[in-house]
Amino acid sequence: MTIQPDFISPSILSADFARLGEEVDNVLKSGADMVHFDVMDNHYVPNLTIGPLVCEALRNHGVTAEIDVHLMVKPVDRIIPDFAKAGASYITFHPESSEHIDRSLQLIRDNGCKSGLVFNPATSLDVLDYVMDKVDMILLMSVNPGFGGQTFIPQTLTKLRQVRQRIDESGLAIRLEVDGGVKVDNIAEIKAGGADTFVAGSAIFGAANQNDPNHYDSVLNAFRKQLA
Ligand code: DX5
Ligand code: ZN
Repeated sequence: MTIQPDFISPSILSADFARLGEEVDNVLKSGADMVHFDVMDNHYVPNLTIGPLVCEALRNHGVTAEIDVHLMVKPVDRIIPDFAKAGASYITFHPESSEHIDRSLQLIRDNGCKSGLVFNPATSLDVLDYVMDKVDMILLMSVNPGFGGQTFIPQTLTKLRQVRQRIDESGLAIRLEVDGGVKVDNIAEIKAGGADTFVAGSAIFGAANQNDPNHYDSVLNAFRKQLA
């Protein structure tokens, strides 16, 4: 069994978009491990966010941390090479949004990125039977995708244990990420369920005092304490 170190991946969906570079710098300086980048298209999900230009802008700004691109768009294949060129590290997508899941996963790796599948709360894990060797990350949604600030769906914990078992049985180094409603008071339970990668948007960027460059220290320290 391959154990991955715990990663905290702040979702910039809840950051101040008018000061995005600075927000990302500050959250990384406070100890975040990577940057969760939510891409929404007003088609697969009822919201519209950011695309490859913004990813590239963060790279040009000097961000060197891994960028964890979560595609909530349909279709996915057209946009995958664009995100790879824009500096994405991981590219994950929802199985419902691709006609050819195996092909899309291969396309991500062929473009030099790490690949992953995202499962909505009511989406079955069955496709994993056939593609475990083609994913570097499995992302479990603990809310329905489209918006930040929603409440964690507790049934995710049962599904999380099922995915943990699949990963352990595979012997592969696959990250297990949870996204939605992750807070200081439930992150320990989510880790106990088998997650090693934790997305948090509103819990981090909702923290007050935006003018203090160290203002994300306390929330990230609180997360770390829970994970220890
Ligand atoms: C929801 C997004 C999440 C969202 C999480 O569709 O995928 O990444 O930003 O936000 P919080 O942590 O506020 O639930
Ligand atoms: Zn996300």
